[in-house]
Amino acid sequence: MTNTNPFEGLITPSDYEDDQKRSGKRDTWSNPLRDKADKRLPRIAGPSGMVIFGVTGDLARKKLLPAIYDLANRGLLPAGFTLVGYGRRDWSKSNFEDYVIKAVKAGARTDFRQNVWERLAEGMHFVTGNFDDDQAFDNLANRLSELDEERGTAGNWAFYLSVPPDYFSDVCHQLQRSGMAEGPGNSWRRVIIEKPFGHDLESAKRLNNLINSVFPEKSVFRIDHYLGKETVQNILALRFANQLFDPLWNSHYVDHVQITMAEDIGLGGRAGYYDGIGAARDVIQNHLIQLLALVAMEEPIDFTPEELQAEKIKVLRATTPVQPFSRTTARGQYSSGWQGSEYVPGLREEEGFDPKSTTETYAACTLMINSRRWAGVPFYLRTGKRLGRRVTEIALVFKDAPHQPFDAGSRHAQGQNVVVIRVQPDEGMLMRFGSKVPGSAMEVRDVNMDFSYSEAFTEESPEAYERLILDALLDEASLFPTNEEVELSWKILDPILDYWAKSGQPEEYPSGTWGPESADRMLARESRVWRRP
Ligand code: BG6
Repeated sequence: MTNTNPFEGLITPSDYEDDQKRSGKRDTWSNPLRDKADKRLPRIAGPSGMVIFGVTGDLARKKLLPAIYDLANRGLLPAGFTLVGYGRRDWSKSNFEDYVIKAVKAGARTDFRQNVWERLAEGMHFVTGNFDDDQAFDNLANRLSELDEERGTAGNWAFYLSVPPDYFSDVCHQLQRSGMAEGPGNSWRRVIIEKPFGHDLESAKRLNNLINSVFPEKSVFRIDHYLGKETVQNILALRFANQLFDPLWNSHYVDHVQITMAEDIGLGGRAGYYDGIGAARDVIQNHLIQLLALVAMEEPIDFTPEELQAEKIKVLRATTPVQPFSRTTARGQYSSGWQGSEYVPGLREEEGFDPKSTTETYAACTLMINSRRWAGVPFYLRTGKRLGRRVTEIALVFKDAPHQPFDAGSRHAQGQNVVVIRVQPDEGMLMRFGSKVPGSAMEVRDVNMDFSYSEAFTEESPEAYERLILDALLDEASLFPTNEEVELSWKILDPILDYWAKSGQPEEYPSGTWGPESADRMLARESRVWRRP
């Protein structure tokens, strides 16, 4: 008899819910972007497996493997889920298991459960080889066919390229040559790729052409992990599930928008990836421009990938960088300084970085959206390493009321109204507005109204990679940028990068501060200031 239990997975969701009850937390099972019917029904991936290229790298160890375990632990993977690691090491199955269990214990969000681990580990395999090794890829292809038989993966495989983009070409060609890019019968093959998606428009196009020559666009899942964050998806809920905000969400009321991604960490240990790349390519091109698209786009007809992506594409097409870049952008590099109680080295003293490196660790720019909704409203984007604290937020700063029946003195402590979407940490939303100070005089002062996720909900948010890996297995593409979005983002950024390439050394800013002075001047010229989050 066929088992039609929709809850069949590595463990049952009820096991997991027992844990959640014990810990006083609940989890969300549904994808609010997709499930129209019962929002509490878990979405469980069908028969499938995943091959990770670059499984010994940092990303796999810190994010992917823990996320796969968390999905298994939540009962969201199919019973025969199979994980194949591919890499240069001469590892046996048990070497691979030892490696994965360490990664899981160090990084998983949910509790470690021996029975879940054992069932997951049964489906773990390792294939040794280089990325250009015909024989090793043929071995991999044979192994996958055997596993289809043994584990019931039905020919459905996702290939996760957690490797530097220089290897994309080799891996894609090998997948094609060895016949793995297409599965038998009705089975599916998908490729999941990580940024950087090129380093400018031209290279992004080449990369997209290369990938699309092997995998059709519908089988390509580009990870922008910011789109997997709950609070980023909440931008859609906030904007389109409420009546309150939309009437104000335009150039009549909004003075400007600030999108900030500040990090307190430095770049020690990441020279190989970061030197020569810099802050704009690392996060503005992807995470921050995606945030801008979600904040600024028009309402999609629904949340299917086609409709959501169409609206994002429309707004990105209308977005341009504001010139002259000498006044509308800022670029910095951290020098040594006090980060909290620790004295930390500057970028050029960090191990592996060129002592003459001109790579920026801070980038800010001004973008405009040429549409009726946003005409004349600057979007200021900034990001930096070794800043005062870690925070990602989107702030809509409102214009002053056109008329004030108060005398100037009574409003000296009032600034502009602000709506802040706090992406992390302390996920939530804040509104800042003027209120009367108690007393006989009419004095108005700014106050905050604060919504915090952790106080409002008992549900615990899944990690971005859990959501995205599951979505890729389920063929749910809403949260993955398309090749067109990627190319449009480069088109926006390229002129700024070209200008910076000719501008020599970025301005230094001491670690632990809020970036270079030129960033403050950039806003001061327009009589504005950066928020101090
Ligand atoms: C990555 C960048 O995409 O995002 C890193 O390459 C950055 O430089 C990281 O540190 C930040 O991610 P999160 O989820 O910690 O905000």
